[in-house]
Amino acid sequence: MRRILTLIAGAIVVVLGAIFGRMILQPGPYAFAGGNRVDLASYKGASPTGVPAELAAADPHTRGEYVTRMADCEACHTAKGGTPFAGGRPFVLPFGTIYTPNITPDPETGIGKWTDAQFLAAVHKGIAPDGSRLYPAFPYASYTRLTDADVLAIKSYLFSLKPVRQANKPNTFGFPFNQRWLMGIWSAFFNDDKRFQPVQEQSAAWNRGAYLVEAAGHCGECHTPRNLLQALDQRQKFAGGQAEGWNAYNITSDRISGIGAWSNDELATYLTTGHAKGRGVASGPMHEAVALSISKLTRSDIAAMVTYLRTVPAIRSDRLPQPAGPAPASPKLASIDNPVGKRMFEGNCVACHAWTGAGAIIEEARLTGVRSVNDPTATNVAQMILNGAGRPGTGRPYMPSFADAYSDSEVAAVANYVTARFGAAGSSITPKEVAALRRQN
Ligand code: HEC
Ligand code: HEC
Ligand code: HEC
Repeated sequence: MRRILTLIAGAIVVVLGAIFGRMILQPGPYAFAGGNRVDLASYKGASPTGVPAELAAADPHTRGEYVTRMADCEACHTAKGGTPFAGGRPFVLPFGTIYTPNITPDPETGIGKWTDAQFLAAVHKGIAPDGSRLYPAFPYASYTRLTDADVLAIKSYLFSLKPVRQANKPNTFGFPFNQRWLMGIWSAFFNDDKRFQPVQEQSAAWNRGAYLVEAAGHCGECHTPRNLLQALDQRQKFAGGQAEGWNAYNITSDRISGIGAWSNDELATYLTTGHAKGRGVASGPMHEAVALSISKLTRSDIAAMVTYLRTVPAIRSDRLPQPAGPAPASPKLASIDNPVGKRMFEGNCVACHAWTGAGAIIEEARLTGVRSVNDPTATNVAQMILNGAGRPGTGRPYMPSFADAYSDSEVAAVANYVTARFGAAGSSITPKEVAALRRQN
């Protein structure tokens, strides 16, 4: 009996060891490219870091601002309606809520007293000036690839802003998640603390794209799924992840569930304007990434990102089917058994989206062929109904929020109607799931 128990215990240890080993022994974010990775100092080619060539002669403030945009520090460090970089934005995680700190140069409540070395340690290693560990909700495992010069350019830019006096809010994590020292162990496994290394065999554009996507743009923090220890699962690179209650879709080169069928032009237009004809609009966290960061980049930098993204190996997600084509104007209507959803669509959506889903007012309102409507979880469709879509005040038509007007079951019913009518697979989002999405907003 004892021997059997020992054997079972041994087998469990081996299996757990193998699972854990697989989690920590991961390929690097662009290991798929192969080739010789070299230190920046010995790289023969145009510099992939810093600002693009067009801005090389610009003043330090302009260059610092550009690099800060590339890394999109503003999105997370700004509360809804708050002063940029003053922090206070909540991130609701399964074990509690964390608020971003104030990174304006206020000496008491911000980072005004920080030295260069302290700032580098925070952005590269996730270590605060008092030696305590920062949570990886701050994506330092990606930023660790930024050069010292770029991190310090960001610091100079932040220090040129008006200091804002606003105290930081503590997180609400309970035991054991409130133990910051555990993040030291996490970092030892999941933050290699290495600066960007270009691949000698790849083009200058590819290397620039890799720097923009992996080091600065941290696309993987949303688009790559996480393992049990909340680290990015690089074997599933860009195969789709989660961001604040939204699905951040598969952006691998898979033609069915990823963006492999998009043209270079469509991808570049989506990244610069948040919309490409027939491909849908960037909403929620992606809208923010486009508005605050990607849309501010030069054409050459967008082209470099596209060059790099094209080479990310295809991964098929079973969950994400080939988007359905155009929807017929009316005949299918009767066959969808969802009278509440149909009535709501008729009363509240049809004026802007048309019965065909082709968009009644502007191309941005097209519901056919776009990923959100062809995602069988209907998560992002429900989020759009709750949050609205588009930008008020730009003079272009936008979609209002229905969060106050609709109950959870009404949101679910109309979301399921939209996916059944215009999508490839239909959905069955529940009122309970809608309620959970509301709590994230
Ligand atoms: C995805 C969201 C996100 C982005 C993007 C982000 N941060 Fe943060 N940052 C956080 C969170 C969350 C914390 C708090 C971590 C903690 O409490 O352990 C934080 C903490 C920090 C801190 C520590 C401040 C202190 O008072 O301890 C600094 C400095 C910082 N971030 C700078 C930056 C810079 C510079 C950038 C852009 C290069 C950036 N952050 C981008 C989420 C983000
Ligand atoms: C803060 C999280 C976040 C970050 C960072 C982010 N994305 Fe996204 N992305 C999303 C979400 C969420 C969606 C889905 C938006 C929607 O449904 O409207 C999305 C959608 C997309 C799409 C459209 C996919 C499709 O099938 O419709 C592309 C392309 C894309 N992102 C590329 C990028 C690139 C490239 C970067 C880095 C430069 C990036 N994203 C950074 C969250 C993010
Ligand atoms: C006042 C006009 C208006 C109304 C009413 C409206 N929408 Fe929209 N909707 C839009 C516009 C405009 C966009 C594109 C927003 C943008 O430019 O980012 C949009 C976008 C969307 C998207 C995102 C499509 C994509 O590309 O991912 C979905 C889903 C959607 N609407 C569903 C609905 C549903 C369901 C209703 C009814 C409950 C509704 N809308 C009501 C105007 C409207």
